[in-house]
Amino acid sequence: MPDNPAAEDRRPACALPKRAGESLVLGIETSCDETAAAVLAGQASDRNAAPTTRLLSNVVLSQIEEHAAFGGVVPEIAARTHVAALDGIIEAALSDAGTALYDIDAIAVTAGPGLIGGLMAGFTTAKALAFGADKPLLPINHLEGHALTARMTHGLAFPYLLLLVSGGHTQIVLVRGVGDYERLGTTIDDALGEAFDKTAKLIGLPYPGGPNVEEAALAGDSTRFALPRPLKGTARPDFSFSGLKTAVRQAAESAAPLGEKDVADLCASFQAAVRDTLADRVGRALDRFAADHPSVTTPTLVVAGGVAANAYLRDGLETLCREKEWRFIAPPLSLCTDNGAMIAHAGLERLLAGLIPDVRAVFAMAPRSRWPLDESATPLVGSGKRGAKA
Ligand code: KG4
Ligand code: ZN
Repeated sequence: MPDNPAAEDRRPACALPKRAGESLVLGIETSCDETAAAVLAGQASDRNAAPTTRLLSNVVLSQIEEHAAFGGVVPEIAARTHVAALDGIIEAALSDAGTALYDIDAIAVTAGPGLIGGLMAGFTTAKALAFGADKPLLPINHLEGHALTARMTHGLAFPYLLLLVSGGHTQIVLVRGVGDYERLGTTIDDALGEAFDKTAKLIGLPYPGGPNVEEAALAGDSTRFALPRPLKGTARPDFSFSGLKTAVRQAAESAAPLGEKDVADLCASFQAAVRDTLADRVGRALDRFAADHPSVTTPTLVVAGGVAANAYLRDGLETLCREKEWRFIAPPLSLCTDNGAMIAHAGLERLLAGLIPDVRAVFAMAPRSRWPLDESATPLVGSGKRGAKA
């Protein structure tokens, strides 16, 4: 309850959407080009099982139009757009949920990794709200949001394997518990979403690249261009996509000037190379998990991050899991791309686990543009032009 009596006076006379035993968490996400907020209600269930949750609202403002003219996300524009939009998005999330700030039990906010301007906009707003309404503030690692989403959508128990494929990350992570992650593999150069975006750009498809490549590929011949399957057959389940991108460029040059059919064939060939590569790299990780966890009777692979929206790649992963007798979980598309619900959920998990940081430490904390999920994992040598993000 707030200490400030004036805050109590402003409590609206609306019926509480909260049920007995539940906590309400407001989640705020501004790490890239989505301004997002959500309200999640939930409570603890069994020891290792996921909390029981109800998503009361999930508001996402995509900034695609702001960045499209520039062919990619412009950090300064992203930060300004977050600042302009965030208050309204939070208000909408609270009102859609039929609640108000003073009935929220905790505020969870993405504190990294991501674009620093956007992170500052979200974190500063969350600090102001938490201070004004006297609520606990939970700084959340964006990757943890993606990592735990399947517990919200499917009630998944620990441990499981996560394939995180987004614009900034490509990793295979062993998820043992809340805050307990081991990175089994990562990219040594570009992230997979980045490879989609760069491929799109170099063959003349508009931003955002991923969905446009997927759509163009539907009409294409995936066998026309012979593209590499990087790192296929190597023992550690790491990834590399910059050589594939170069191969796409060379193939595009060989077919120039590109007609619609050439673009479709390039996209289909690129996606086939990615699908094969994922099957090989992820297949290795599944085998390693199965060997290390013989007592897990239903081993589960979860795919998350923006690239997980790709139906062709999801199908490839589903096929791999069927062959290896694994359960495969892909959250709904709206919860694969960036959103506030996954941040609210990670906050709820931390709240229920008692992982509530000291209030002074949180208010003194600055957002982190780099924030590995597995802090003990060493960055790979030569990791990416944009650096070893995780
Ligand atoms: O997770 P996300 O929304 O943002 C972060 O990077 O954190 O992922 C965005 C990335 C972009 O690179 C975008 O091109 C890619 O996900 N993406 C896709 C698809 N939808 C989004 N890639 C392939 N196929 C898609 N359908
Ligand atoms: Zn993301």
